[in-house]
Amino acid sequence: MGLRSKLKKYFLHKRLPIETYIPNRKTKPSKMIEIVTAWEGLELIIEDIIDRFSIGNDSCIEFGVEFGYSSVVFSNYFKEVVGVDIFIGDEHTDHKGDHYEKTKASLSKFENIKLVKSDYRDWIKEDTRNYDFSHVDIVHNYKETFECGLWAAQHSKCTVFHDTESFPEVRRAVIDIAKATGKNVYNYPYHNGLGIIV
Ligand SMILES: C[S@@+](CC[C@H](N)C(=O)[O-])C[C@H]1O[C@@H](n2cnc3c(N)ncnc32)[C@H](O)[C@@H]1O
Repeated sequence: MGLRSKLKKYFLHKRLPIETYIPNRKTKPSKMIEIVTAWEGLELIIEDIIDRFSIGNDSCIEFGVEFGYSSVVFSNYFKEVVGVDIFIGDEHTDHKGDHYEKTKASLSKFENIKLVKSDYRDWIKEDTRNYDFSHVDIVHNYKETFECGLWAAQHSKCTVFHDTESFPEVRRAVIDIAKATGKNVYNYPYHNGLGIIV
């Protein structure tokens, strides 16, 4: 890491501090797909998080599937994974354009993943379920992350948020959601950062 990036990280952590999550062990999930994604590396700590906080292994909901890297990781640990995405990308993704059919085809062999083409705003109006685990990795603005993440934190035991290191808006939303829900918050500062609310 260059001096500029180190300084940027230093000031971000000072301005928006979150207790660091230190995994006890790292485990590579047995089922994975090969995709270039900023999420790569985080698969190693998901089992540790589930065990540390006794989350259970029944259900997971994910907002922001894109090509399905994280969905497949979660499919190793939960009987059911619901993946919600508009599947057209957003202002922060490299890929723009409809990728629903492509993602659906490449994930078809993972029978416990159910993909839903929907905006999170429409989904959270209708869904009243509670899940064991949730993941938020949508457009990385404060408003959207807060709104979607608040719902996720209120409807699951543990919510993880990607990009707490690369997008200060996501980090700020994670801190505010933890305050609003009275839950604990941790941050794993690698692979662009993973916020953990539990
Ligand atoms: C960074 S990508 C997700 C990456 C993925 N988690 C992975 O493992 O590679 C963000 C995704 O969020 C989706 N998205 C953006 N805004 C959304 C919204 N309002 N509702 C649902 N999905 C949204 C985009 O279509 C895009 O596929």
